[in-house]
Amino acid sequence: MTDSNSSNQGFVRRDGELFCEGLSLADIAKSTNMPAYVYSKALITRNFLASADALKAVPHLVCYAMKANSTAGVLQTLARLGAGADTVSGGEIARALKAGFPANKIVYSGVGKTPAEIAFALKKGIACFNVESEPELELINAIATENGLRAPISIRCNPNVDAKTHPYISTGLKNNKFGIPIERVEALYLRAANMPGIEVKGIDAHIGSQITEISPYLDSVTKLLDVMMSLREKGLEFHHLDIGGGLGIRYREEDTPPTPKELLWAVRDLMTERGFEKTALFVEPGRSIVGNAGVMLTKVLFVKKGEARDFCIVDGAMTDLIRPALYEAWMGIEPVIERHDVKPLLMDVVGPVCESSDFLGRARELAVVPGDVLAVMDAGAYGSSMASRYNSRLLPMEYLVDGNRLIPLRRPDTFEAMVDGELLID
Ligand code: LLP
Repeated sequence: MTDSNSSNQGFVRRDGELFCEGLSLADIAKSTNMPAYVYSKALITRNFLASADALKAVPHLVCYAMKANSTAGVLQTLARLGAGADTVSGGEIARALKAGFPANKIVYSGVGKTPAEIAFALKKGIACFNVESEPELELINAIATENGLRAPISIRCNPNVDAKTHPYISTGLKNNKFGIPIERVEALYLRAANMPGIEVKGIDAHIGSQITEISPYLDSVTKLLDVMMSLREKGLEFHHLDIGGGLGIRYREEDTPPTPKELLWAVRDLMTERGFEKTALFVEPGRSIVGNAGVMLTKVLFVKKGEARDFCIVDGAMTDLIRPALYEAWMGIEPVIERHDVKPLLMDVVGPVCESSDFLGRARELAVVPGDVLAVMDAGAYGSSMASRYNSRLLPMEYLVDGNRLIPLRRPDTFEAMVDGELLID
């Protein structure tokens, strides 16, 4: 959605023309390879501070879930604001460290951590392993002991709550592969507390993504607090409670997620009620930090009349932005310059990839001619980070806008770069 904020922050339409902060998106499109992602530094900053400021009176850590957008310049922006990082692979930990996140602000989740990844994270001194199974805990203990270290851990609980979101991005239900069933968690903590290579630090859950209600979080936190309470009676205290990420954003008018402050204060209230006001609150937002801070610009190549429907064929594809193809996610699509000299047509906005699922939007009313530029809105999260080179397409360009400054975040991809890592046979 277009940000109607009166300040110069984010994406604003002025006289029919869409701007990112001080720069016209049409001008940016003229000067770059297409498609291209454009991010607003002011919006990334504002979104991060919405969580960090809400928690400033209490011990906390906002760990940016970098899977949402792991481009170096975006990571640097957040690291400089004091964010921590939520990571899910050795690669993400390496990227986070390179971008300036201190190791002691990095948490590491994921159901399939390899021995090499565990050893790497341990030696770097990360803040916490979010452990997702009993065998993983044993492995971390063994690797830490071997290296004469103690691994800080949290057990990721599967609280079996319905996050009321798309099944593909729901993670806290019994049938999901994530976390350890809440019923088994207490016994596992008691074992963990006696493992020589393990230091119990926290407890966590992550129940899904694009969540637009507070109640699933409170259901989850209540279950975690029950475990903490019972363990407190047995003498085990936690440094932090990590509620995961998942806060939704407003892709459509009818999406009305709570603000980070509403969510975090409700969680803090619950913690205080149960006597855990001294426990630090960790949160792992991805989408709510970068989602509405980015658009993907794509150029109209052809308008094609079909038998059953018409198509707006653009140069951006599922390889650049896979959310519509993968989850049937609805994303706003707007011309960067409104035009009134052609009749709007109802069209599917599709890319050049050889798959029927290659669409960015279905049945959109658009007044466009070839050469016009469209902005896919709210594309800052799970856009570039999920891009691929399928069909041997080049990766999209990426820019950060800071006021009137356009900062390239990568070199334009090339056919040479595309095959650079491949070896030819004799
Ligand atoms: N923490 C953990 C352990 C996660 O698995 C995730 C996301 C997050 C935090 C951040 O969630 P967020 O605040 O961004 O909702 N590709 C999908 C979303 C997948 C989310 C996976 N996990 C999409 O485009 O909708």
